[in-house]
Amino acid sequence: MSAIGERPMESEAIIRAEGLAKTFKVLRKKTGPLAGLRTLFSTDYREVRAVADVSFAVAPGELVGYLGPNGAGKSTTIKMLTGILVPSGGRVVVDGLAPHRERARNSRNIGVVFGQRSQLVYDLPPRDTFELLRKMYTVPRARHEANLARFTRLLALDEILDRPVRLLSLGERMRCELVASLLHEPRIIYLDEPTIGLDPVAKETMRAFIRELNRERGTTILLTTHDLTDIEKLCKRVIIIDKGTVIYDGTLAEIKRRYGRRRTITFSLLDGAGGPDGGLDPERLAGEFAAIGDGTTVERREDGALAVGFDPQRVAVPDLTRHIVTRYPVADLTVEEADIEAIIREIYGAGGLEVADGPDNP
Ligand SMILES: Nc1ncnc2c1ncn2[C@@H]1O[C@H](COP(=O)(O)OP(=O)(O)O)[C@@H](O)[C@H]1O
Ligand SMILES: [Mg+2]
Repeated sequence: MSAIGERPMESEAIIRAEGLAKTFKVLRKKTGPLAGLRTLFSTDYREVRAVADVSFAVAPGELVGYLGPNGAGKSTTIKMLTGILVPSGGRVVVDGLAPHRERARNSRNIGVVFGQRSQLVYDLPPRDTFELLRKMYTVPRARHEANLARFTRLLALDEILDRPVRLLSLGERMRCELVASLLHEPRIIYLDEPTIGLDPVAKETMRAFIRELNRERGTTILLTTHDLTDIEKLCKRVIIIDKGTVIYDGTLAEIKRRYGRRRTITFSLLDGAGGPDGGLDPERLAGEFAAIGDGTTVERREDGALAVGFDPQRVAVPDLTRHIVTRYPVADLTVEEADIEAIIREIYGAGGLEVADGPDNP
């Protein structure tokens, strides 16, 4: 479903955006005497084009990473998909509905988690918020209890459900945010930075759960994250946006093939051979490997291993490997794929991958 050239057909898409755009009008701030008051009465607007032109289609059951540098327009897109924001241009259809026009009906089909905004009532235990949501979505009690029992097991919520939200850790709270967004059994869920600020263990719990949701339940998931491990572990397909337009839509494997041409062979030598004084000087080796193929680089890693970077289109892996093992007493050798983190950084350009989100967000 997710490979290039296999975009969902018009009819089978569950989420479809066509030329989607959103422009915010922002008052230009006044400076000088009575600045606040003068800004209040000002009609001097500046336009911020948060989403310029976004088109994509997601098939039922897909898990898609929606990526891009800070301020690219990811959260704004998601808000249009949920119906919170009205598009300034283009079209969006989610499960047959125009979200902003049929907000109530749309909200029954979708769940949404914004990593930096809570839908839980701060002073109440999560269980109470869950009960409010049950009533709001008129979920039958037995169904609700069964779902809650399942989530409690999958997300280890036993200790958490009856503690006021304000006493929960971020990881505990995020698990409850997920539950809150899922109790009405939506077919689609939007996760906007659900792992932001979590420790590695909490992240892993979230990932396992998201994977379960997608694989076992077939829930369609659109996931925004700055954590590339999330992407590697969860998303086959990614859509990358920058400055409000789609710059890539395809598989993660295709990104690696297209942009991550360089690979690395790392090897270490048997004890006593080639140590700091063993004569394996990266500079001399660089000359040696350059003779095998253009653009080959050699550097010594912190642990003493030698890393040979090369372009597999210019140097064949077997040739390079053979050269190394026949010439040196190799203890260990690995061939590494292109590093997805480095590749995406490169695609984003100067945008960077800081964890912090846009100023008005979400
Ligand atoms: N309510 C708003 N009013 C004005 N500008 C906004 C608003 N929401 C977002 N923006 C701006 O729109 C751009 C895209 O924001 P956002 O969708 O939050 O990006 P992302 O989620 O990719 O970091 C940013 O420049 C942001 O400052
Ligand atoms: Mg955002």
